Amino acid sequence: MLLATANFDAREFTGLRYRSQGREGLICIKAHSAGERHNDGGVAMTNKGFSDPATTWNRRFDVPEFIFGRGPNHYLARWADRLPAGGRVLCVADGEGRNSVWLAARGFQVDAFDIAQAGVDKARALAREHGVEVDYRVFDCDAVQWPCACYDAVVAIFVQFAAPQVRARLFERMREALRPGGVLILQGFTPRQLEYGTGGPPLVDHLYTEELLRESFVGMEILDLAAYETQLTEGSQHRGHSAVIGLAARTPAP
Ligand SMILES: C[S@@+](CC[C@H](N)C(=O)[O-])C[C@H]1O[C@@H](n2cnc3c(N)ncnc32)[C@H](O)[C@@H]1O
Repeated sequence: MLLATANFDAREFTGLRYRSQGREGLICIKAHSAGERHNDGGVAMTNKGFSDPATTWNRRFDVPEFIFGRGPNHYLARWADRLPAGGRVLCVADGEGRNSVWLAARGFQVDAFDIAQAGVDKARALAREHGVEVDYRVFDCDAVQWPCACYDAVVAIFVQFAAPQVRARLFERMREALRPGGVLILQGFTPRQLEYGTGGPPLVDHLYTEELLRESFVGMEILDLAAYETQLTEGSQHRGHSAVIGLAARTPAP
């Protein structure tokens, strides 16, 4: 049941307050034209931010600290032991390299890409610091052919920059990049996260539900699919009580 629409001055977006199954919640539906706030990165996004992501993310990463931290995402860390030792892994929209470097340090052969040169520069520095090699590229996930259909794992951690149409293509490419029997490891925020504001885009159609992920990866074997709440400590930008979802899924073996 819809209770009210409201403006939330602190976050500068318009929301819908709802009640469902005895619980009340808040869904953000539209950022004000003055500037969509996007708390993945701390710099308030204007509408241009979504149409010019390279500039936006380069600006966000142009600070000395690692804004999403230097350690791996917890869901990736939980699943990495299940991947074939020394296997080939692609890290999608890898940002400042926390996940790719951690995987390389565990003996995986890692390729990674991101749209932001500034993020990739920091990732290369982190790899040097850890004495590991990662093949980094700078490209827009929607603009170029991906390296190959050869990966034992594709890792996509908080890649919720994609609105539904782009996301459909992104998810298809992720699936196509896997070899038969390869595993996708994905983490994102759920719509519930809009109540917490501790990271992620404040746009409900960028967020994931179990149903969305199940439909998006139909035909893959679901190894794990769970929406849950946890305390994130990922740099300054993913910090605090958060509503997340994790998916581990395998392409059919040959
Ligand atoms: C929330 S950050 C997550 C970074 C990294 N996966 C992590 O967990 O630390 C989202 C990343 O998506 C990247 N990105 C945004 N749009 C992109 C695009 N069209 N193609 C590739 N990367 C993109 C940004 O530069 C940023 O590094």
